[in-house]
Amino acid sequence: MSGARESVHGMWSGRFAFILAATGAAVGLGNIWKFPYIMGENGGGAFVLVYLLCIVLIGIPVMMSEVLIGRRGRQSPGLSVKTLAQEASSSTRWQIAGWSGLVASYLILSFYAVVAGWALAYVIKTARGDFQGVTAEAIGGQFDAHLANPWALMAWSAVILFVTVYVVGRGVHKGLEKAVNFLMPSLFVLLGIMAIYSASNGAFSEAVQFMFTPDFSKLTINGVLLALGHAFFTLSLASGAMIIYGAYLPSNVSIAKTSVLIALVDTAVAMLAGIAIYPLVFQYGLTPAEGPGLIFVTLPIAFGSMPFGTFFGTMFFVMLVFAAFTSAIAMIESTVAWLVERKGLNRLVATAATGGSLWLIGLLTVFSFAKADWATFELNVFGKPITNFFEVVDYLTSAIMLPLGGLVIAIFVGWVMKRKITEEELQTSAAVYAIWRFAIRWFTPIAVIIVFLHLIGVLDLLLRLLGV
Ligand code: PHE
Repeated sequence: MSGARESVHGMWSGRFAFILAATGAAVGLGNIWKFPYIMGENGGGAFVLVYLLCIVLIGIPVMMSEVLIGRRGRQSPGLSVKTLAQEASSSTRWQIAGWSGLVASYLILSFYAVVAGWALAYVIKTARGDFQGVTAEAIGGQFDAHLANPWALMAWSAVILFVTVYVVGRGVHKGLEKAVNFLMPSLFVLLGIMAIYSASNGAFSEAVQFMFTPDFSKLTINGVLLALGHAFFTLSLASGAMIIYGAYLPSNVSIAKTSVLIALVDTAVAMLAGIAIYPLVFQYGLTPAEGPGLIFVTLPIAFGSMPFGTFFGTMFFVMLVFAAFTSAIAMIESTVAWLVERKGLNRLVATAATGGSLWLIGLLTVFSFAKADWATFELNVFGKPITNFFEVVDYLTSAIMLPLGGLVIAIFVGWVMKRKITEEELQTSAAVYAIWRFAIRWFTPIAVIIVFLHLIGVLDLLLRLLGV
């Protein structure tokens, strides 16, 4: 069994610590900031349905595969996959599955830290009472003004990265576990309160209609790809995170059960976020296609008018920062683990170097939102307009790298690794194993390939040639 290898970075103290950390990695800005706005941009219900299907049919099986790879390999993602490829007497080129995840999470963190910085700034704004008795329009204006000040955005993202570096630099046990222990449950409760408030004070039925009545005429192939990519993003898949967290997982923990649990919590948080936001969107005549500012221009409206709004609002943004922070930790961890393993760097030095370089790359995002001339342009990628560097990095990672990374992982675990080994690691019932194996060998690869063929127009061409 996997006990044969040991991680040089330490181990989780048990099942619960892993669940907390992995849930902390999964739940973050992806659920609360990104899911609501991309759902809005892609027409609502049909997008949500595709997203949910992707979570169940692709996300959970891939998550199980990644945790399995990590626990068996016990190293940073690239080296874990490499070791397992050697064990299967196959080409070590498969390690690309691990490396691409490392690069993806590095790139994601460059914009993630900037957006987490917005949330941090909003803690102060809300606590100061900036939203009390202010119109929805003025709240929108405040957000625009916030984005227009690149120096402040740079400072906020620096704070986020600094704290991330500090916690990660202190090592697996001391840093990571402590940080996630009490944050997740509090966030969940607070989001519940917000959802109840919005549902009872906003246009609830319109929101439910928008989120849960699929209208497929509003869904483009890019929308399908984004739903697929977001399923990966929100579960922290194909980004090294679940592999590296799996590497610290004790051998006796059930991978299947914990993966399902993490996916459930993650999905519940995203749905709650939608229910907290959309009743306000419709009540105040805002547009669902508002874009990345959506939560920052809707939730403050509620905080400005609800009882104890300043208190709830401040708490909400505090929790959001923490949720972002536990995800940021997961994103930086694989790069750091690799620098420590292979480059022999001291953990703190490795983390600081990673954090510093991320801050610099994050300037692309800062200036995208500040609408600097050099950071904005017009591109058209398979029918999707891309207008700044933030959107480039976001599309490159979520829409391209994560689904393709997931594809390679699925093929590796399903077709390259020996059946006996995956059985041994998963240690689950024959039925669950059979479903997982089918999903990972057939369903995931075929689904991802079809979406990409459709995206680049090849599928349509084939169908036309076949006369369908
Ligand atoms: N899952 C995180 C979120 O939804 C983002 C993330 C991606 C975290 C990749 C780790 C790795 O916010």
